[in-house]
Amino acid sequence: MVDSLKKPAFEEIRPGVKKPSEDTILTPRFYTTDFEEMAQMDLSVNEEELKALIEEFRVDYNRHHFVRDEQFKQSFDHIDGEKRRLFVEFLERSCTAEFSGFLLYKELSRKLKNRNPLLAEGFLLMSRDEARHAGFLNKSLSDFNLSLDLGFLTSSKKYTYFKPKFILYATYLSEKIGYWRYITIFRHLEKNPQEDIYPIFNFFENWCQDENRHGDFFDAVMRAQPYTLTGLKARLWCRFFLLSVFGTMYLNDIQRTGFYESLGLVTRDFEREVINKTNRSAGKVFPIILDVEHPDFYKRLEKCIGTNEKLAAIGKSNSPKAIKLLKKLPLYASNGWQFLMLYLVKPIDVQPIHGEVL
Ligand SMILES: [Fe+2]
Ligand SMILES: [Fe+2]
Repeated sequence: MVDSLKKPAFEEIRPGVKKPSEDTILTPRFYTTDFEEMAQMDLSVNEEELKALIEEFRVDYNRHHFVRDEQFKQSFDHIDGEKRRLFVEFLERSCTAEFSGFLLYKELSRKLKNRNPLLAEGFLLMSRDEARHAGFLNKSLSDFNLSLDLGFLTSSKKYTYFKPKFILYATYLSEKIGYWRYITIFRHLEKNPQEDIYPIFNFFENWCQDENRHGDFFDAVMRAQPYTLTGLKARLWCRFFLLSVFGTMYLNDIQRTGFYESLGLVTRDFEREVINKTNRSAGKVFPIILDVEHPDFYKRLEKCIGTNEKLAAIGKSNSPKAIKLLKKLPLYASNGWQFLMLYLVKPIDVQPIHGEVL
């Protein structure tokens, strides 16, 4: 009895197989793109750098890294109650995000194989890494007596279509932000070993280097397609993707503050650190970065958090659907307004200082 109280119940599609979380605007997505346009990408202006990066992928530094060693041979029942729910949620979201990368890169490598072999090989090697990451996270769910049916997820989840240039911005940023998230957690736990309550975090140091290399690959592809990085349109889209990626992470993570606190992190400090670092990394390739020190930046994001709490409360209420929608509309408009205002904050021009160490 006491045991069942300490372990939160998860909805299952089969015994031990967790029902995937409902899709919302903030959940990890699966992507598809225009494979024909991607196949026609001419990479010749940056071919040497791409070949060098692919050579590094082939070395496969993490070939023997993802092994569930004796650290995992223990019970994790002491991670219980709300903390357990947050851990499972973290593992599920991370697994879904890594698996999303795998599916997209694998499909790209398959479709481009005979049309654009250089790009195809890069995608194939990155899909190898993402499969390992997703698999390792899924196995970690078994420490909590759960797993995700990735085949079911592949066929049941909606796919979002992005034009190739948007895929480049989005994947570049998600790889770099993934790198900074993993390394920031790792460094924190290295300094505070008493907070290291689950072994997966000990794998983040080498793991994040995969993400960093993936980000560098997209950096090199964008440089081979200068229209993605120069001109007014490129500046506006870079701004849009930076804001979307930072905003989504912030809203997601603040909702789950308990998870970061359970590792001894101060969630808002963690977010600022990851956003600052990713923004600076992006400045090595994007023509602009966001002014994240602007006094409105976090103020407006915090307003959205307040609004999201109200939206969640309406969602949980017993009102009829139409009434719920009526109540929600002004709140959606408020979030839209905050993001529009954030988008209009003057960005920082970094083109003149490209090539310098930021
Ligand atoms: Fe990954
Ligand atoms: Fe990656």
